[in-house]
Amino acid sequence: MSNSKNFWISKEAKNFHDFKNYKTQEMQPIIDLVKRAKPKTLLDYGCGNGLVNTLLDKDIEKTLFDINLDNFDNLAISDLKECNCKIIKQAKDLPSNYFDVVVLSFVLVAVPDEKQFTEILQNIKRVKKKDGILIIVDSHPCFLQYDCSWFYSESPVKFPYLTPGAPFKRGLADSKDREIYFTDYHWPLSFIINKLSECGLSIVRMEEIADGGFGPRPKNELYPPIYSMVCK
Ligand SMILES: C[S@@+](CC[C@H](N)C(=O)[O-])C[C@H]1O[C@@H](n2cnc3c(N)ncnc32)[C@H](O)[C@@H]1O
Repeated sequence: MSNSKNFWISKEAKNFHDFKNYKTQEMQPIIDLVKRAKPKTLLDYGCGNGLVNTLLDKDIEKTLFDINLDNFDNLAISDLKECNCKIIKQAKDLPSNYFDVVVLSFVLVAVPDEKQFTEILQNIKRVKKKDGILIIVDSHPCFLQYDCSWFYSESPVKFPYLTPGAPFKRGLADSKDREIYFTDYHWPLSFIINKLSECGLSIVRMEEIADGGFGPRPKNELYPPIYSMVCK
């Protein structure tokens, strides 16, 4: 298990979220899944700059939560009220049994240790309505070493697949040919599935999502760089 410093709660994380202001296409899988669920209440857990919320229906009551409180000073949302969004800064203040949909978008890959990983899923189990759903969209752990059109991992990837929480370096490019580098954490697929089950969440459906050519690099059609899971 990794004890390395968490990039995502450091000041440098701001650069990533500023960068992501230019990227919206990759959020389409989440938007499609949310639309299908027709929620009244939605929690964006680990919201980052909150960008996805600007792309969702205004009628949905949206709650933003993140461990990095600096994110709330740097939101991609110009008017919280107009966007029907509110902010909650402490996990303990999230209401129990309240959300129709909880979105966990590229958060698990940003979690550096098992304790936090477990806490996130336990919190979600508590705040999700009994018949609500959790939508996870994240990097596919089996294909981190393959190029895709927007993310690239250090090559060759220098960690054993079966080591939970192994840190690895990543780069991201945008359409303006700018690049940033950051640290993500590897969680084997079996670890993710078993942890969901341990925390009382069950997978209803998993999709392995093709490279949609979201970034400026060549599209790799051989392997799915991301996956989605819908959990009850
Ligand atoms: C890669 S960013 C993704 C941001 C956003 N969900 C998106 O899709 O653009 C990962 C986010 O997860 C947040 N995060 C990491 N660990 C967390 C935790 N234990 N609880 C809540 N948020 C966490 C980070 O602060 C960061 O904003």
